[in-house]
Amino acid sequence: MAPVFRPFRPDDTEAVVALWDACGLLRPWNDPRRDIARKVAEQPELFLVAEQAGRDDERTVVGVGMAGYDGHRGWVNYLAVRPDLQGSGLGRAFMAEFERLLTARGCPKVNVQVREGNEQVLGFYASLGYAPDRAVSLGKRLIADD
Ligand SMILES: CC(C)(COP(=O)(O)OP(=O)(O)OC[C@H]1O[C@@H](n2cnc3c(N)ncnc32)[C@H](O)[C@@H]1OP(=O)(O)O)[C@@H](O)C(=O)NCCC(=O)NCCS
Repeated sequence: MAPVFRPFRPDDTEAVVALWDACGLLRPWNDPRRDIARKVAEQPELFLVAEQAGRDDERTVVGVGMAGYDGHRGWVNYLAVRPDLQGSGLGRAFMAEFERLLTARGCPKVNVQVREGNEQVLGFYASLGYAPDRAVSLGKRLIADD
């Protein structure tokens, strides 16, 4: 059965953290459970999981992503599809859903940040019409997680 999207629920936490881990998205300086708590406090309706029904109709989280709109740009972070399902169109469907939700809020442009060393994902975004911006991404940590 095709995965269905729904907003994140607190009891998804461990499945989501395990999925990010399996997809290589965890970093020691980002506590994923704190990241989840922060997202649940801000536009939680843009924090989606994809759920797939398995045997006995048991539902499993097979994808996750966080989107947000800051009033100028939309952002998508922590997008992950379970490794054995990658390449089957779920990532594309996720981004289409985020674009739909962001457009409905009046968001004119969506940005994604791809970490150095994860360049293979650029092919995914390129196939969805995302192009490099003439900008350098800068950041400053305000709250240390460790
Ligand atoms: C990135 C990710 C979410 C993409 O999800 P996915 O379900 O594998 O992607 P899809 O199957 O929907 O692919 C969509 C399109 O991108 C293309 N694509 C996917 N990965 C690609 C790659 N590495 N290089 C080139 N094209 C790629 C597919 O061929 C497909 O094109 P098509 O629809 O024209 O056939 C998934 O691979 C993932 O979880 N990666 C690990 C975590 C990660 O790096 N997340 C991104 C953080 S910025």
